[in-house]
Amino acid sequence: MIDKYAVFGHPINHSKSPLIHGMFAAQQDQLLEYTAVDIAEEEFEQRVEAFLQEPGKGLNITVPFKERAWALAAVRTERAELAGAVNTLWRDESGSIRGDNTDGAGLVADLTCNHRIQLDKSRILLLGAGGAARGVIKPLLDAGASELVIANRTLSKAQLLVSVFGPVGSSNHQISACDFQHLPEGNFDLIINATSAGLSGETPDLPVHLMNEYTICYDMLYGTSETPFCRWARQHQASKSLDGLGMLVEQAAESFLIWRGIKPDTAPVIEALRQSLGQQ
Ligand code: ATR
Repeated sequence: MIDKYAVFGHPINHSKSPLIHGMFAAQQDQLLEYTAVDIAEEEFEQRVEAFLQEPGKGLNITVPFKERAWALAAVRTERAELAGAVNTLWRDESGSIRGDNTDGAGLVADLTCNHRIQLDKSRILLLGAGGAARGVIKPLLDAGASELVIANRTLSKAQLLVSVFGPVGSSNHQISACDFQHLPEGNFDLIINATSAGLSGETPDLPVHLMNEYTICYDMLYGTSETPFCRWARQHQASKSLDGLGMLVEQAAESFLIWRGIKPDTAPVIEALRQSLGQQ
């Protein structure tokens, strides 16, 4: 019987995951089926359990269920444990449901492999302190960031993340929290937008002094046209202004690796998606 995979979310109609995993499977000669399934709020846990009986081999989980997937997983990777959210589920040989979070690894892979950005000893400003921000902090620190400033509209949420991640890993990095009115002086190597402001056409209210000619800006969002944060970055002479399409494909590739034991070639898939979005 064909191996089945799916992404569960609500809503799910805009998901690119079936397209991405379909391209991975074709590229790697893997016979599998991957569908997007809209799940009613009250049915999530029951639907996951039912799907992960044979022949359901693995699931991606997206908004609004990532925290519930974390709670449901019997065994979690360290990065998922700290992220407080799970986007990849599968059943191990003993029958236990395992959970991982590949979002942060996807971001780091896009930054370092696709865009050739060096994270070692970098100074990073992370905008936002919600689920999206939380999922990428440990992978950014593991990639060698020497300073991470978490800035959020609501200061207490950024401070909470500092208390969670401050003690994690080596002592070679500094983590601090602030709101947008008290951002430190510039010279950031990288500014990452992990807020959802762009979904409503907005961008956090940021002072211009953050930027210098070398600062790279990365928006975890993407779209058919330039995101509001990428526009802000370009207008303020960022050295590069990058969207999150590569992160989307890279996190999917990490899931594919977990399930199938093979890492797909992401570059042609990113290229195909950019074309399908009309970006090129
Ligand atoms: P996600 O899972 O996408 O991270 P979330 O957990 O609801 O979603 O978090 C949304 C993040 O975007 C938060 O950091 C939020 O700031 P607050 O914690 O102050 O709410 C941030 N955000 C959303 N809209 C914003 C806006 N217009 N300006 C600045 N920050 C915004």
